[in-house]
Amino acid sequence: MSREFDIDPDDYVREKPGHQFLVRTEAYTDADVFELEMRRIFERTWIYVGHESELPDAGSFKTAQVGRQPIIVLRDKQGGLGAFFNRCVHRGAALLREAEGTVQELRCPYHGWVFDLSGKTRLVSERNDPGGYGPGFEQPEGLVPVPRLESYRGLLFVSMDPQIVPLERYLGLMKEVIDAKLDLSPTGRIVVASKPYVARYQGNWKLQTENIVDAYHFMHTHGAFVKLQAKFGDTTGDFGVHKGRSTREMREQRFRGATWSCLYGHGYAQVPAADTDALLDGEFGGLYRALHAQHGDEGFARIASKVTSTVFPSMGMIHQQIRVWRPISPEETEVLIYPYEIEGAPEAFNAGMLRSQERFYGPSGFGMTDDTEIFARVTQGLRADHVKWLVFDRGMDTDEQTASGDFRGLPSSEAPQRALWREWSRLMRRSASEA
Ligand code: FES
Ligand code: FE
Repeated sequence: MSREFDIDPDDYVREKPGHQFLVRTEAYTDADVFELEMRRIFERTWIYVGHESELPDAGSFKTAQVGRQPIIVLRDKQGGLGAFFNRCVHRGAALLREAEGTVQELRCPYHGWVFDLSGKTRLVSERNDPGGYGPGFEQPEGLVPVPRLESYRGLLFVSMDPQIVPLERYLGLMKEVIDAKLDLSPTGRIVVASKPYVARYQGNWKLQTENIVDAYHFMHTHGAFVKLQAKFGDTTGDFGVHKGRSTREMREQRFRGATWSCLYGHGYAQVPAADTDALLDGEFGGLYRALHAQHGDEGFARIASKVTSTVFPSMGMIHQQIRVWRPISPEETEVLIYPYEIEGAPEAFNAGMLRSQERFYGPSGFGMTDDTEIFARVTQGLRADHVKWLVFDRGMDTDEQTASGDFRGLPSSEAPQRALWREWSRLMRRSASEA
């Protein structure tokens, strides 16, 4: 990327009262825009890197990519967590290549420098390096820490920006979404117990950010699935409650609720449970009745509702999974889907949720394959860049701003997508010297 490259976000996002909300084609396709996004968005926001349950022991680690920066998250001997750049302080070799695992120490594969689980340089010695080191050698203290690492209820985020607002403030309204998801557990905890299902699609990373909260597409993109659901029931964790309901009834159900476009670019879509009595009296009534007693009517309604959500820019919680997406190039994105278990729920409940996710999100399922096909279709269409703008507005003009500064919109009004673009615009506006 040329150092001088800069954009005027007003050329990319057009939001004028009384006019349609428009986004320019090149925001998805241009290589320079993509590089700028890595610096100004991915290296300036909070990026999800894993859940604490994935790092159970001293030496448990995960590697991740934050924009262009490779990092390591590591549990030390005292049980604390640290995040470091995945780069030896000698001549730069990446210390770990695996996505996750357990180590006793970090030993560089190039010249053998060793770092302990707290990242401290442990062994630059005569024993390791015959001939030793001269008096002018300054032994580095250790690996370079990532500026910020914070957790909300076990969800770990890092930021390259030392000045960024605290994670809880950044999450804002999304804390309620995360709370509702995690409070499905009587202990309030989840366990990420498996490696992710990994998918790649031909398309820009923002297609996933937009789509995970897109209530609008469901009845169209997933039309074949909706018909099967009406005929056979269960497939997305409703345990049969949709069986025998017409597609019209299901459409009406889906278009109840609301979407939210939140500060800092987050968004979510919430649909109330189709039938809470069916949950309380059903196969897992014991779990649901205990949650009802624990959280009351309002709390239980929140927990029982269906929520899909995105934490800007690249993490979402949907169904019983945490989803992360990683930009590879303007037209290629990797998606990692981590199903999780609800601690304290019956084994059959967690097993049923896992099976239903496989049916919808798995490699032979309906949902993810429908979506990635659509992303490729969008990518194909955007190559017609003689057409300048995409439309993010059905003219419903229903967004209501709340006291917190977030916006509430109708289910299919594209409100969460507009939140993304407002934040994209704000972050991309920073001067090139800051990037
Ligand atoms: Fe790591 Fe030389 S690059 S020891
Ligand atoms: Fe979809």
